[in-house]
Amino acid sequence: MRVRAFFSSALTALWLAALATATAPFAHAADIPDPAADAKAFRDYFVKKFPKLKLDEFVNGPYSMDEDMRRQWEEKEQFPPYEFALEAGKEMFSTPFKNGKSYADCFANGGIGVRQDYPAFDVKEGKVITLELALNRCREANGEAPYSYVKDEMASLTAYMAFTSRGKPFDIKIPDDPRAREAYQEGKRYFYTRRGQLNFSCATCHVQSPGERIRAEILAPGLGILNAMPIYRSEWSGMGTISRRFTTCNSQIRGVPLEPQSDEYRNLEYYLSYMSNGLPISGPGARP
Ligand code: HEC
Repeated sequence: MRVRAFFSSALTALWLAALATATAPFAHAADIPDPAADAKAFRDYFVKKFPKLKLDEFVNGPYSMDEDMRRQWEEKEQFPPYEFALEAGKEMFSTPFKNGKSYADCFANGGIGVRQDYPAFDVKEGKVITLELALNRCREANGEAPYSYVKDEMASLTAYMAFTSRGKPFDIKIPDDPRAREAYQEGKRYFYTRRGQLNFSCATCHVQSPGERIRAEILAPGLGILNAMPIYRSEWSGMGTISRRFTTCNSQIRGVPLEPQSDEYRNLEYYLSYMSNGLPISGPGARP
């Protein structure tokens, strides 16, 4: 595996050791949830770290970090590799289920231009509902089998829905409900908790080290990290959803990935999306 080969190189071992001992910013923030203050601190941290970057540029992930990469991205966007998935998603979205209903019946505004509102906290259920989860629930409510969360149909559907929201700023809400604040706080905790054989947290790579190279890849900044989802990656030879990216990142640190759409991942997505409130949806995206 590519990542493993990379991790075994001596230089990398040194770099990893340095990271593992450094302290993540915000990791010791007070335990009383103050999401708005967190989001401001998070944003300020990245803006200060990359003073030349316009705020909206952060949504281009690794491509925002480097001039050469940016040029590659602009070239890619001329013949985007996600085009196929996007077309398929559009077709699927507009095809009725066997019972005659369709995805449009399950979402506000017929599902068009709503991606920026997900994940949403459902006060009836007391849980975070991601877009991927809402799509499968819609299918099941209409007598259709759920899709795999990581790729193929799910990636196509979310690609189309993201596309209809392009340019709309993330608008994640935390209702005045202790369960919503707790879900947020759990997501935050997950993001900063070290795990896996390499003892890394998400923040070790995406807060402390954005712009640094992991072999051929340049680490994306935590700010705006979900705005381009789902993404096409050459290494996957296809599309991947947020679920796929989370499990891949957990495996990279030789940790045990969780089930897609587990409470932990849903809360994590809630936290990360909230951190990017105000930044535009740019998905679907393409990565090297
Ligand atoms: C060992 C470093 C490392 C750790 C730890 C890590 N990631 Fe990643 N992550 C990567 C690499 C490498 C990529 C691919 C290059 C990139 O886009 O940053 C990536 C990409 C991503 C992306 C896609 C960004 C984009 O624009 O393409 C998301 C989202 C993400 N990671 C989330 C997470 C989350 C959540 C965690 C914690 C569960 C995590 N990562 C932990 C290395 C890491």
